[in-house]
Amino acid sequence: MHNHRDKASAAPLLSVVVPCYNEVDNVEELTHRLTKALQGIAWEVIFVDDDSPDKTSRKVADMAFQNPRVRLIHRIDRRGLTSACVEGMLSSSAPYLAVMDADLQHDETLLPEMLTALRSQQLDIVVGSRYTDGGGIGGWDTKRAAYSRFATRISRYFTRTELTDPMSGFFMIRREALMQRVRRLSGIGFKILLDLFASSPTPMRFLELPYTFKERNAGESKLDNRALLEFAMLLLDKWIGHLIPVRFVAFTLVGGIGVFVHFLVLLLVFRITGASFMLGQTFATLTAMTTNFLLNNFFTYNDVQLKGRKLLTGWFSFTLVCGIGAAANVGISSLLFQRQTNWILSALAGIGVSSVWNYAVTAVYTWRAPSLGTK
Ligand code: GDD
Ligand code: MN
Repeated sequence: MHNHRDKASAAPLLSVVVPCYNEVDNVEELTHRLTKALQGIAWEVIFVDDDSPDKTSRKVADMAFQNPRVRLIHRIDRRGLTSACVEGMLSSSAPYLAVMDADLQHDETLLPEMLTALRSQQLDIVVGSRYTDGGGIGGWDTKRAAYSRFATRISRYFTRTELTDPMSGFFMIRREALMQRVRRLSGIGFKILLDLFASSPTPMRFLELPYTFKERNAGESKLDNRALLEFAMLLLDKWIGHLIPVRFVAFTLVGGIGVFVHFLVLLLVFRITGASFMLGQTFATLTAMTTNFLLNNFFTYNDVQLKGRKLLTGWFSFTLVCGIGAAANVGISSLLFQRQTNWILSALAGIGVSSVWNYAVTAVYTWRAPSLGTK
């Protein structure tokens, strides 16, 4: 350990930022491999853990106590690969910043070559690519490979570059290049590289170096349906985020589903079982509010999702706020209608006011969410 302390007395030239969620059995091995690969370079590794249930953060803290090259950022009640990477990079003052996964799928032996390229050429970023000559995707099944190719094709449209692997989670960037773009990032989801390129006012000068994507070491992948959803939210934000907050778009889409649920339940209770209209309407309203709450909690507020007991209190405040919204809706639309406004316009005005109210108030009280995407 003595050895580590001596070398680390120099401020790091390179910070390796590693987002992690449930990677307790990988962080030690990764640090080990980094130590081997980065000999002779002043480096540090910054693990950014989102309060993993497997206690990754405790493991990293133990390592950091032994080895000053290791640092930990521990985030609570937060999720998100991109935001984790951004916060990790912003916590460093090193001139060169790398991002790589914790699960040993990325090839750490490429790091010195990336650093040399950044230091000796006019480049902003060096990207580890699976799709350039000499790279590969290792043992991926065909479904995952097809998904990746498809997402890559869509992404190229947004990045407007010849990047062969815009979905890569493995790269090294010059600090100033990040600082010029960091305020424009959407910060949503999994695809930080795509976000960086798509947020760039001037094209990034990049180089791609091939590597082979290895099998994950321990633990399991977090790239699931949620990641797909976040990918859609990221593209949505890049597309219309400068006009409307992406969360509001999602909230409105969920609202549309709510109307459908409402009529389905009303149909069932009132028309089919023959209960009174009022009972049907009450039941339909409650069901629609609950599905809306759950859908918003899963989609719109995925990054700050409420769980456990907070799910219950959240449901309560959501219902309360939307109840007030509904009263305002009826009040405003009736008033407009009485004043000779066209009935459709009256209804739309009521719906408009209550949606904005519901969205704005639940964002603050139910989810206490930070704004997402382009500000
Ligand atoms: N802090 C934090 N918060 N870390 C996270 C989160 C999160 O919400 N979700 C995932 N991670 C960490 C994982 O622990 C891992 O170190 C890394 O981010 C990548 O997650 P994986 O679950 O291993 O993703 P993958 O292997 O399926 O996807 C990788 O390859 C893709 C290329 O197809 C990633 O590098 C993607 O970024 C990349 O697009
Ligand atoms: Mn992985």
